Amino acid sequence: MRDRIPDRRAPLPQFDRAKVPTPMSRLIYVINGPNLNLLGKREPHIYGSETLADVEADCRKAGADLGFDIRFLQSNREYEIIDWIHEAREAAGGIVINPAAFTHTSVAILDALSACSCPILEVHISNVHKRESFRHQSYVSLVASGVIAGFGTQGYTLALQRMAKLMPAASAGPDETPGTD
Ligand code: DQA
Repeated sequence: MRDRIPDRRAPLPQFDRAKVPTPMSRLIYVINGPNLNLLGKREPHIYGSETLADVEADCRKAGADLGFDIRFLQSNREYEIIDWIHEAREAAGGIVINPAAFTHTSVAILDALSACSCPILEVHISNVHKRESFRHQSYVSLVASGVIAGFGTQGYTLALQRMAKLMPAASAGPDETPGTD
């Protein structure tokens, strides 16, 4: 009988934070790179006539339908994009990024994205593969789960739909395997 009495001096089992499943964040960062603030005015024959404000409204609507909170951002400054990626690393369930010209040049953005464990989807409004050869190379594609190019601004909402598939907790049924169709 004595054996059954718990030893009060024995250490309590430790609470292991790492073993507690954290719910997947429904916050999606939609990050836009340089010159995309000029969308609608800049080379409309390539990028169309929708403005970035229109794209943001589309993303917010699609995000609401999919159960996502959207943080929609644009900067012409590389460091600011890197800081937002660091923020997303802590807070976001996914990143949709159109790094614009930084796609083809920025090892620093690649490194920041490499530090994130959430799904990353790369979007280009134009079909970069049909354009100059320097646009065929993307550092970001090395870490992106998928790339959408040439679907116009619709690419952003398509990326959010894909994100919902990659994050089943946000919208898909329980027996749906992440990352499959
Ligand atoms: C772009 C394609 C890039 O090559 C270009 O520098 C951009 C926009 C696109 O959305 O098609 O600024 O990312």
